[in-house]
Amino acid sequence: MAVESSIVGPVILLGPPGAGKGTQAKRVELQYHIPQISTGDILRENVKANTPLGHSAQEVMARGQLVPDELVNPMVAVRVREPDCDHGFILDGFPRTAAQAGWLDAFLDHEFFDKSLHVNGLPIVIRLDVDYNELLLRLTGRRSCPTCGRIYNVHLQPPKVDELCDDDGTKLVIRNDDREEVIRERLTAYVRQTQPVADYYEQKGRLMSVNGDLPVDQVTAQIFCIIDNSLRR
Ligand code: AP5
Repeated sequence: MAVESSIVGPVILLGPPGAGKGTQAKRVELQYHIPQISTGDILRENVKANTPLGHSAQEVMARGQLVPDELVNPMVAVRVREPDCDHGFILDGFPRTAAQAGWLDAFLDHEFFDKSLHVNGLPIVIRLDVDYNELLLRLTGRRSCPTCGRIYNVHLQPPKVDELCDDDGTKLVIRNDDREEVIRERLTAYVRQTQPVADYYEQKGRLMSVNGDLPVDQVTAQIFCIIDNSLRR
């Protein structure tokens, strides 16, 4: 049952490429009425629209590397200042470097919490832990709907009709960076640059981990439990 009150605060979903951050963020969005902010989606929209940001990010993303902090942080600041984030939001794919995590803490402290009386508490940081081979299966099998954004997997969660979205019948697409050589680079970038983000939050006693290897509904149940518990505090 969806939660009536929408005062949740920021939720951060951490985890390697293919861990299920996007899949779960969409469910958190529906349950708690807070918007999903996917830095990957925003960057891909900019690439598609050929904006200056998209132009700068395109090649880096195609190689599976991280877009520089000085481009990503201001992009997040702009999105979080939009009014639909007043009661909370889910960050999917951000922060991804220790520097981004430090920037986010300062931003939330000095700019965001001061201005919004609606959002309470520190971010809820949840990491999805998934086995390496499972990640490869998920990324190579991923398909998504370009119209509604619903995510499928040809191996694990296929659509009812081959290659077509169950909700709107649109032909499903494969992401540009889901090619094997790029996947390897993305996983390497995760280990080198994003694992320190988990250490950052762990040292502050704010990291919660869930078993992301489980079926989607069971992962969702673990996440809702963490959020519900933090709301009761
Ligand atoms: P981004 O778009 O954030 O991609 P990612 O982190 O690599 O994560 P994915 O979207 O691949 O996976 P996911 O965890 O969301 O999994 P999903 O739910 O889709 O980033 C792309 C690029 O943008 C980066 O490489 C970088 O260049 C740039 N970028 C983005 N943010 C940045 C930042 N902050 N700083 C710098 N650069 C940045 O699920 C995957 C598949 O598994 C699906 O097929 C799904 O159906 C299936 N699945 C999900 N959960 C389960 C389950 N429990 N059981 C079985 N199958 C499952």
